[in-house]
Amino acid sequence: ARLVVLVSGSGTNLQALLDACTDPAYGAEVVAVGADRDGIEGLARAERAGVPTFVERVGDHDDRAAWDAALSEAVAAHEPDLVVLAGFMKLVGPAFLGRFGGRTVNTHPALSPSFPGMSGPADALAYGVKVTGCTLFVVDEGVDTGQIVAQVAVPVEDDDDVASLHERIKTAERAMLVDAVGVMARDGFSVEGRRVRLGSRPG
Ligand code: GRF
Repeated sequence: ARLVVLVSGSGTNLQALLDACTDPAYGAEVVAVGADRDGIEGLARAERAGVPTFVERVGDHDDRAAWDAALSEAVAAHEPDLVVLAGFMKLVGPAFLGRFGGRTVNTHPALSPSFPGMSGPADALAYGVKVTGCTLFVVDEGVDTGQIVAQVAVPVEDDDDVASLHERIKTAERAMLVDAVGVMARDGFSVEGRRVRLGSRPG
């Protein structure tokens, strides 16, 4: 299956997918990496792996809708079977969802529906939960909503700060993402009862 991965930061989730894809039995290939900003480690990781990259900055477009359309075009150019939002810090819009809804997954560092948005680990820590985790879901028009594909629970330690908690979550998250995307790539998946099979084209 052909994966396009969108990132906004360090790209350790992306790196986990890149590493998994080196095994032909995994059944997927990262065919492109996109970002909403330049100069991030996630793009450097793609370049080191020889994967084509693209950047679509919101500020380069007249408005959000134009950015959404441009992002959709950039992704479509790589003919993805599955789009993976891995630390992508923008909400995709109607143009994107019209094209890739139902075959776009997003990973979130909290146990949805708890703690949606940009600061899941910090919100979990502030709330005082003893267990948090990460969630992989099929993206819909909401913020960190959508059909849940996988979740992994992660304990909160008494001496955690946001960084230590988020690192522990990310360790679980990378494994969750690699496992779930591999299953989706090889076996397809169901969205609202509809079976989605991903292209079996090599990579
Ligand atoms: C991940 O925990 C992701 O869920 C969150 O930000 C983090 C991105 O980490 N949105 P990385 O860029 O994959 O290292």
